[in-house]
Amino acid sequence: MTDTASVPTIDHPSFGRLEPSRVIIFDTTLRDGEQSPGFSMNLAEKLRMAEALAALGVDVMEAGFPIASPGDFESVHAIAERIKGPVICGLARAARNDVLRAAEAVAPAERKRIHIFISTSPLHMKYKLRMEPDAVLEAITESVRLGRKQVEDVEWSAEDGSRTEPEFLCRAVEAAIKAGATTINIPDTVGYALPRDMEDIFSMLRARVPGAEKVVFSAHNHNDLGLAVANTIASLRGGARQVECTVNGIGERAGNAALEEIVMALRTRPDAVAAVPEIHTEKILRTSRLLSAITGFEVQPNKAIVGRNAFAHESGIHQDGVLKHAGTYEIMTPESVGWSRSSLVMGKHSGRAALRDKLRALGYGEIGDNALADVFRRFKDLADRKKVVYDDDIAALMDEGHLRDHTRIRIASLRVVAGTEAPPEATVTLEIDGETKTATATGDGAVDATFAAVNVLCPHTATLRLYSVGAITEGTDAQARVTVRLEEEGKMVDGQGADTDTIIASARAYVHALNKLLVKRARTARHARPDDCGRPTEGCRRRPDD
Ligand code: KIV
Ligand code: ZN
Repeated sequence: MTDTASVPTIDHPSFGRLEPSRVIIFDTTLRDGEQSPGFSMNLAEKLRMAEALAALGVDVMEAGFPIASPGDFESVHAIAERIKGPVICGLARAARNDVLRAAEAVAPAERKRIHIFISTSPLHMKYKLRMEPDAVLEAITESVRLGRKQVEDVEWSAEDGSRTEPEFLCRAVEAAIKAGATTINIPDTVGYALPRDMEDIFSMLRARVPGAEKVVFSAHNHNDLGLAVANTIASLRGGARQVECTVNGIGERAGNAALEEIVMALRTRPDAVAAVPEIHTEKILRTSRLLSAITGFEVQPNKAIVGRNAFAHESGIHQDGVLKHAGTYEIMTPESVGWSRSSLVMGKHSGRAALRDKLRALGYGEIGDNALADVFRRFKDLADRKKVVYDDDIAALMDEGHLRDHTRIRIASLRVVAGTEAPPEATVTLEIDGETKTATATGDGAVDATFAAVNVLCPHTATLRLYSVGAITEGTDAQARVTVRLEEEGKMVDGQGADTDTIIASARAYVHALNKLLVKRARTARHARPDDCGRPTEGCRRRPDD
């Protein structure tokens, strides 16, 4: 077990005096998470997610990779302008233009960080970068020095650090510290390491590298072997004091270490690592659900902390035990991560005050009068169609409201005639950039007819890759949650919609996906894509793993 006394107190440019027991939560949902297939978000969605992450209390928010595209730059800049609280961070390769672009993007933030990375493993240097080790060391020194001229808080990462030769890793870390890096991140980029490896790497660096006592060491573990969280806890035991993670563990390939799992492991087992995250844990579930609503990817039912079954006790023996003493089968309380035991049932007779109370209990905090009026109107509409409105229904209503902001295409009306007599026929009226248009089409089923009518109004070449329907709660009057995935020129977008009527939910999901497609098209049109390149050259603007 790590003796916390052996981790020094550090004076940090963004956090001031950092005691050994403090762990910095570095969230990269909007960068490493967002860059994985199917998880891309538009500007409004990123801002919405950034607000939720700030409310959750993350210390650092990696908002994107500004040089990757004008859209990425715009979202990092907008987050830096509007989100208060966390340090706002932009990613950059070890190259002049990357660093300057990241600096420009984070400039409006109260507290800002540039995160510079370059590969250090023999495999990556030889095949990906095609650079000699000495040239890599030079790139580290130059880029970190340049970063420090722009901002006080510079993080440097050794990409594929866990597969880097210890001697060279020490030299690279020393070069970064000498050039002014304030955080040193050692990623397990390919999720290859075992917990003991990560603990040893951090212990070794702290023991051997001159200047190690002045910087924060950081862990960034991928989940290819399902060990990302275990490796993160082991990294802390080795002396890391920053953890990089994402909500629901989204990220490249098998994902990154899940924020909610790390935070609750640290809260539940202070005996293993005396490092306390300053996170408002009761907002965890809310944040997880918002991400699912935005991206269309639900977490699996047995997902730790935020899965539907995470606190469900099915067997009689377990239920009996929990009733006698919750601690028999619960190692943390469901309320501590945002599950509500509230028995206040909502229905058509519930008023505004009850809804406001319920929203508070569900972790939405205080919502303004206009937003309350909007959700109350949609709640009444739902309650007219459904006897009991459950917590999950209300969460879906709130998420629906956020998802429909800033859209170019809106559904004005939808009418479907279906039955055994004739092919189903759908008449759809859409508002497209403020102009109202109507079309009628038939199809192979009511949903097909609806999508066909939308296609007449918004022609596109995208292929439907996924259409999935799930019930938000139980019963025949339950709301359906529909996810639609479209693919156009290798780019994937997801749309979601919820309603007690599956056809309406489907139409909403389809139009949501088309709205996202429009955003993607606009981004691609502005963003010329040169050769694939992982080297820190000035011309390549692709994401590192694109
Ligand atoms: O996994 C990785 O190595 C990264 C770096 C860019 C930090 O995401
Ligand atoms: Zn990563």
